[in-house]
Amino acid sequence: MGDASGVPFSASTIAVMGNPVTDLHEDMAAEQKALATYYQLVNLTDDVDIIDVLKFLGEREIVHYQRFGEALMDVYDFEESQKLF
Ligand SMILES: [Fe+2]
Repeated sequence: MGDASGVPFSASTIAVMGNPVTDLHEDMAAEQKALATYYQLVNLTDDVDIIDVLKFLGEREIVHYQRFGEALMDVYDFEESQKLF
C-alpha cells in the first residue's frame, strides 16, 4: 500500500519517532488537525446532511484525542514507576 502518488507507507508517513511520549503527542496533534479540517469543511457548505456527517466525524476525532491522552498519562505513570531513588 502507498499514498495517492504510489509512495509506499513507512514510519515517516505518520512521523513515528519510536519514543512513546513523542509519538503520542504526534498522534494527538494529528487528531486536532483532523478536527480542524472537519470544522473548515463545515464552513464550506450549508447542506445539513453533510454538516451532520462532518460533525459526527469530528466528534470521533475528539474521542481519539482523549484516548491518546489517556495512553500518554499511562506512559507517564509507567515511567514514573520505573524511577528508583
Ligand atoms: Fe482520529
